[in-house]
Amino acid sequence: MLFDLNPKENVSELFDRKNELEELSGAIERGEKLTVVYGVRRIGKTSLLRSFISEKKSLSIFLDIRQIYYIHKRTIPSEAVYEQILREFTDLMGILGIGAEEQTSVFSAYGENNITNLLSDINKWCSTRKVKFLLVLDEAQYLRHSRKISYDGVIAWSLDNLKSIFFIVSGSEVGVLKEMLDFENTKAPLYGRFRNEILLKKLSNEESSEFLLRGFKEQSHKISDVEINQVNGKIGGLIGWLTYYGHYRTANNMAHNDALNKVFSEGSKIAMSEIENLIKKSKKRYLAIMTGIAKGMGSWADIKAYTITKTGKIPDSGLDMLLSSLIKFSIIEKDSSGSYKIVDPILREYLSSPSSKLSHR
Ligand SMILES: Nc1ncnc2c1ncn2[C@@H]1O[C@H](COP(=O)(O)OP(=O)(O)OP(=O)(O)O)[C@@H](O)[C@H]1O
Ligand SMILES: [Mg+2]
Repeated sequence: MLFDLNPKENVSELFDRKNELEELSGAIERGEKLTVVYGVRRIGKTSLLRSFISEKKSLSIFLDIRQIYYIHKRTIPSEAVYEQILREFTDLMGILGIGAEEQTSVFSAYGENNITNLLSDINKWCSTRKVKFLLVLDEAQYLRHSRKISYDGVIAWSLDNLKSIFFIVSGSEVGVLKEMLDFENTKAPLYGRFRNEILLKKLSNEESSEFLLRGFKEQSHKISDVEINQVNGKIGGLIGWLTYYGHYRTANNMAHNDALNKVFSEGSKIAMSEIENLIKKSKKRYLAIMTGIAKGMGSWADIKAYTITKTGKIPDSGLDMLLSSLIKFSIIEKDSSGSYKIVDPILREYLSSPSSKLSHR
């Protein structure tokens, strides 16, 4: 069902993404052991990855690192990562009919909570059976909150030593994930490593329209061209918001305007709560900058002028720092003409609307 709000779990439920699925399978078939999937929030990373592994013959496990981070009070305990890999891998062995005793014997360092040993054991087991093991790390940028382990080092070590283990890492804070993997830094463990990089793009207008038409047809509901154009103009491109709209219209039987308004009212709450933590260190300035951009101030000088009127003087270096961290977290982007834009149309509309109660006002 296209308008199901949960991440999709099967290729048959997935709208498009054929190229990305092919790129993923191609990489694994060619023996390329690291693939990175970048994409802003609600663009469909989790759906792509879950659907991909659901139909692969390779053994695979899916770790939601953001979930581990929140469950463990904003930390990444190495025990939690270790235990989840171990638990999911032994579950897989169970599915393959391997009994508990043999399962235990595979792990030389059972209970030692050593991730590299665990990966070595998994690799040995997979290599003797000539199967590939896919470790999917969704929202992998949260691994940087680990105090004990530097996961870029673990991945680099695995790429060098473990021939049956494949990594797919993804993240919605694109710049943060890039910074964590640090491919360009000569001193970093993953420097210059071969990797496949897949950047999930927003849907084009035609694709957004087709997604809506298909979803409505699936639910035997109707949508007019005028409605499609309005939806595209306001929230087109981000498949996650289109899914919300379609869900409200078809599952909740809401009228077009009501559904669109609800996407905005619910969506802006969700989007604001997601960035709350990222901007809290300099909240007034961040909000002033974002509001300026949302209101159409695209150039550095205009953003600076707007920010000064809202929060007082700001040094150039301070503004640069805040802008680059907004880019890193994929909250803003620079378009082809070098002008700053808010990535999420709902956030853009919320920040630019006079009714949004922003604390810097
Ligand atoms: N290719 C697709 N076909 C149909 N629905 C999709 C597709 N991709 C995403 N969706 C829908 O869009 C919403 C967001 O998808 P998903 O959670 O996969 O995105 P994400 O990029 O992982 O988001 P986040 O960054 O918030 O984790 C979900 O409701 C999902 O069902
Ligand atoms: Mg996701």
